Amino acid sequence: MSQNTNTLPVHPAILEAIRRSVDEREFNLYPRKAGVPGLVEAILEDLGLEGFDVLLTNGGIEGEYIATRSLLGPGNEVLSTDPSFLPIHDQVAMSEAKAVEVDIYRKPYVLTPEWANASITPATKMLLLIDPNNPLGSSYTRDQVRGLSDVARDRDLWLLNDVTYRDFNKGHVLASAFYPEQTLTSYSFSKGPGLAGMRIGALVAPPGGTVMKALRRFDTNVLGVNVLAQRAALAALQTKKEWLPEVRKTCELNQAAIRRAVEKVDGASLPVYPSNANMFVVDLSETGVNPETVEERLLFDHLVHTRAGSYLSRRHGGKFLRVSFTVPESDAKRFASAFPAVMETLAK
Ligand SMILES: Cc1ncc(COP(=O)(O)O)c(C=O)c1O
Repeated sequence: MSQNTNTLPVHPAILEAIRRSVDEREFNLYPRKAGVPGLVEAILEDLGLEGFDVLLTNGGIEGEYIATRSLLGPGNEVLSTDPSFLPIHDQVAMSEAKAVEVDIYRKPYVLTPEWANASITPATKMLLLIDPNNPLGSSYTRDQVRGLSDVARDRDLWLLNDVTYRDFNKGHVLASAFYPEQTLTSYSFSKGPGLAGMRIGALVAPPGGTVMKALRRFDTNVLGVNVLAQRAALAALQTKKEWLPEVRKTCELNQAAIRRAVEKVDGASLPVYPSNANMFVVDLSETGVNPETVEERLLFDHLVHTRAGSYLSRRHGGKFLRVSFTVPESDAKRFASAFPAVMETLAK
């Protein structure tokens, strides 16, 4: 429950695709640079996009590295949030640019177009829209995505739309729907189908080839990306209708079980509920207990691993614990019994 991955049963077709690839020793050869036949098309179909350029990457995070390195330079600013998935901010720094972290640890727990506008400066070059947000599990309405797309267009910004957790949000809206000309979509297979260790994702760029050409300057995968991972990813998309409802159902049940446990603890609360991702934060600020200590005691005394907020927020990390729930229901139940017990001990 710490890594925010997915340890639910994997669809047999995905396992079969990996095994077949091993049996056929596809790994002896370099994979096709353009990907195994059908994968790029299946990604675009999953997103409901046509004609966009797709670069297969070692997980979504590599695509974000390629995008930030290619499109940013020294002194540029990237409008983002706090909390956020901070490794992307570290990547921004690799281009000697800076992430400007707008505080969204307050209602409505997303970056509103008004807050975005207020934080833009002449140095702003990109808007990073992580939807749903890690760690909050908050997501953006159609109007909010449109509003942020308008902000980006008005200021001629790149819009990097990280949709890593899209599978968990039934009503997800892509920024490409409103701002196709300068939106890059970062796509992941890690969370929904549970392929984090395979390291496969994609960066989806506007049609026409010009942006993709710029991105390729920092693409080191001239020899392709892992073929087993590609086979698994293709099978995941081909069977999505079969596994996604189960995954969503488990998330719903697990977050409800966690909520009941949080309600037992005086001062603990869930700022965002229900989450539209596979995680949310448990706010502990009113309990006076340090999230790092809760993480430690849950792990060492109960073998339940969660993540203290400092990994995801410099400003608010001392207030919350992030809990992920794409885990078997038995694991969520273990958290539900351990959390109140740990909090009782620490409150003494
Ligand atoms: C918001 C966000 N973007 C990107 C990633 C990286 O995803 P991938 O495993 O596809 O590289 C993560 C991983 O947790 C994430 O939370």
